[in-house]
Amino acid sequence: MSGSTIVYKTQEQIELIRKSSLLVGKTLAEVARHLKPGITTLELDTIAEKFILANGAVPTFKNYHGYKHTLCISVNEEVVHGIPGKRVIKDGDVVSIDCGAFMNGFHGDSAYTFPVGVVSEEVLRLLRVTKTSLYKGIAKARNGNRVGDISAAIQQYAEDAGYGVVRELVGHGVGAELHEKPEVANYGKKGSGPLLKAGMTIAIEPMINMGTRQIRQLSDGWTITTWDKKPAAHFEHTIAITEGEPDILSSFNDIELAIAENSYITEKIATLA
Ligand code: MF3
Ligand code: CO
Repeated sequence: MSGSTIVYKTQEQIELIRKSSLLVGKTLAEVARHLKPGITTLELDTIAEKFILANGAVPTFKNYHGYKHTLCISVNEEVVHGIPGKRVIKDGDVVSIDCGAFMNGFHGDSAYTFPVGVVSEEVLRLLRVTKTSLYKGIAKARNGNRVGDISAAIQQYAEDAGYGVVRELVGHGVGAELHEKPEVANYGKKGSGPLLKAGMTIAIEPMINMGTRQIRQLSDGWTITTWDKKPAAHFEHTIAITEGEPDILSSFNDIELAIAENSYITEKIATLA
């Protein structure tokens, strides 16, 4: 985390964060158009990097604390921070793709989890619940609430569905830096934590496990997997706190249009939002 105080943004700055965040959504959509059994995770990463550069931005994650890639691609029991490489996507995989883009001085950060080919109804439910938990959290991201209101809403929805909520990794403020204050945990108590005020921009990113909430880190120093090797899901939006409704700066619209046109991704992940 860089900095110890919350950085509040002007509306102009929020619009720049929206631009970066929308580019992330378009990048994930471009990746979704190519996502199918047989493609490697490194090929997907190259598609994303070229797309971001062609749109006048730079990949946020590349060179971040020594990370070498544009995307984090986390398959099946991998929760987050999977490193693109020679791994080949297979029918039945659950593929979480996390992306950041930087331009005009600001970052956008967003993630989506895709079911490739035939995926069990049990796993599709995990994806639906995780995505809905993100929107449950966003609904609490209002001026005058506290960060814990977001956290508690996510935790309650995911745990009521019977899933494990990852504790060790959290959402975060986002702006000129990828990781700003405050931390936005996916578990916590209503009414606790920093006050949410108009002008804050935060990335909310529930990481939800089908089984135990426990995780481990692989020896590559990055990849986080579930302890029990059961699948996990991850959805992330960059949002702004306003005087009124939460303003979702990233978008899944292009991603979901791409999914609709990709015959290898047959399930739409509906939400209650
Ligand atoms: N998107 C991740 C986050 O929200 C960051 C990935 S770590 C990196 O915190 F090193 F790849 F950038
Ligand atoms: Co993030």
